[in-house]
Amino acid sequence: MLELRNVTAGYGSQTVLRDVDLVVPDHSVVALLGPNGAGKTTLLRVASGLVRPTAGRLILDGQDATGWPSHRLAAAGVCHVPEGRGIFRALSVRDNIRLQANPALDLEPVRAVAEAFPRLGERLDQRAGTMSGGEQQMLALAHAYVAGSNTVLLDEVSMGLAPKIIDEIFDYLRRLAEKGAALLLVEQYVGRALELADFVYILNKGRVQFVGEAGELGEEQILASYLGVEAS
Ligand SMILES: Nc1ncnc2c1ncn2[C@@H]1O[C@H](COP(=O)(O)OP(=O)(O)OP(=O)(O)O)[C@@H](O)[C@H]1O
Ligand SMILES: [Mg+2]
Repeated sequence: MLELRNVTAGYGSQTVLRDVDLVVPDHSVVALLGPNGAGKTTLLRVASGLVRPTAGRLILDGQDATGWPSHRLAAAGVCHVPEGRGIFRALSVRDNIRLQANPALDLEPVRAVAEAFPRLGERLDQRAGTMSGGEQQMLALAHAYVAGSNTVLLDEVSMGLAPKIIDEIFDYLRRLAEKGAALLLVEQYVGRALELADFVYILNKGRVQFVGEAGELGEEQILASYLGVEAS
């Protein structure tokens, strides 16, 4: 279980998150919603150790992980799929998968990814940066699977992709959750996020404005009253 307790964080003298409490329980999906600039990406960076809180704590499985560098959090099972994907563009798909994989797992990583995403299986020797945006996103998402991560932080993974690819990606996320991974999902498609989520947090100007079970609010309500936009 990953927890932020009373976290304040930002960049230099700019405070972005203020007194944020957030819990990602084991085996659950948490949707993190909020308008542009609310601090969603920053919150994921705190959770993965890229931004250190100036106050408050990051707790992983009951242990104080505040100030742990990101590689230590990754080794402890936290996988961050960042905005902009975080793959090695100059390397082949196969080499990316090998670098992502946790050798301690009883899993043949390249084969496992090819089964999860047949498109990637057909492109193992292609340079990752030459793939389509959707294929690159699949490769970024494969990371969580072959690393055996139990907490996966996902930053707008559907950004700029066609609906059919987004369907494939959400099917994969559903399977990841069914296998027992906890997901913290930042997503612009509120409806898709709510279908998958158990809990919802709405962040506004760096503060948690709403927290509840995903069934408590409808999509329209969330869009209208919290995000200030119309349902599409
Ligand atoms: N590296 C950085 N240095 C300085 N300020 C930053 C940095 N990254 C983000 N910010 C600022 O922090 C605030 C929150 O940004 P953040 O990216 O966390 O928001 P967000 O909720 O993810 O927005 P979006 O929906 O547009 O992705 C913004 O005002 C942004 O300008
Ligand atoms: Mg963002």
